[in-house]
Amino acid sequence: MSFSAIVVAAGSGTRAGAGTPKAWRRLGDRVIARWSVEALLAAGADQVVVAVAPDMIETARTALGGLPGVTLVEGGATRSSSVRAALAALSHGQRDQPVLVHDAARPFLTRDHVSQVLGALAEAEGAILALPQADTLKRPAGAVLETPSREGLWRAQTPQAFPRDTLEAAYAAWPGDQEPTDDAQVVTAAGGAVAICPGDPLLFKLTYPEDFAMAERLAAGARLVRTGQGFDAHRWGPGDAVWLCGVRIDHDQTLVGHSDADAGLHALTDALLGAIGAGDIGEHFPPTDPQWRGASSDQFLAHAAQLVRSRGGEIVNVDVTLICERPKIRPHRDAMRARLAEILGLREDRISVKATTTEGMGFTGRQEGLAAQAMATVETPR
Ligand code: CTP
Ligand code: MG
Repeated sequence: MSFSAIVVAAGSGTRAGAGTPKAWRRLGDRVIARWSVEALLAAGADQVVVAVAPDMIETARTALGGLPGVTLVEGGATRSSSVRAALAALSHGQRDQPVLVHDAARPFLTRDHVSQVLGALAEAEGAILALPQADTLKRPAGAVLETPSREGLWRAQTPQAFPRDTLEAAYAAWPGDQEPTDDAQVVTAAGGAVAICPGDPLLFKLTYPEDFAMAERLAAGARLVRTGQGFDAHRWGPGDAVWLCGVRIDHDQTLVGHSDADAGLHALTDALLGAIGAGDIGEHFPPTDPQWRGASSDQFLAHAAQLVRSRGGEIVNVDVTLICERPKIRPHRDAMRARLAEILGLREDRISVKATTTEGMGFTGRQEGLAAQAMATVETPR
């Protein structure tokens, strides 16, 4: 679902201690605000407006450099004034998109958090993530330590999502002399029904100095990027069509093999298996096993993708190169990318299919066979 996003990063981070305001401190290999902005873009945000304190604009420009669709605006003295400033800077063209508001101080945002709140908007005028209050609450009152009930209390997090009109109207109606602590409060005050989605402890807000040490440990342990490569070749033989990257192409020859001989899918399967150190295609689907005779190779690739996911991994991107004099690959490239996207459950912009000849040289040049190479990058938990 397309959406617009606001990241509020204009606070001074007083409770976090002296120095650079927290949104612009480093966490792992990136500045804190960049974690959220990248996550929102990865989740499909069309525009991300970031509210920044006036004296941090240059810092923010550098920290968020190279990210598409990002606009910086000057935030205000309070969180709500920063949200108002960002709302006013949303592009006019995308009025019907829901708006998601997020605190820069919650860097461990994921695509799942985003889809949860956006999904909940189908049934409500707002959606937030929140966690049930687990600890016993205490309120010192003079010499007495009171224990207010935690029953029915939730800890609100961000992101919080709203239809854009609803959020704008609610802020317009909010009394200027009071400061809300989140956006759901503003929408609720205007009569909107806000739904609660299950929150995530990892979405905690960096607030006090000790929170940063915990975040550093999480960031360091967060993900590992791994790559794998694969290669395959098959011999040309008599036939009338060839399978390449899951697409059937009419041709005056076919590739000979135990399965459907789709060298593109085989190379890519090996690349994925290589990235997670899970052996090779022959080990998972032995050519000696009669059940794979003439098999359609998309199941090999789907199996490798499933293995990556079962290890908590995510496929980042894949790149296949087909090496042959004929057939021409270009006219089929888009169909191949679409088919690979389907098999892998991956967006097409993460998939590349290329082709080359070898200028008449070697076994591909003499048209004895076709070769394929592939690379895959995956992110896995450490
Ligand atoms: N925020 C903002 N503009 C403000 C105040 C807060 O954009 N005038 C943002 C913060 O940058 C943060 C989020 O709102 O991402 C949540 O606020 P909070 O955790 O209170 O951050 P700070 O206000 O920066 O911290 P503190 O209250 O300790 O000063
Ligand atoms: Mg604050």
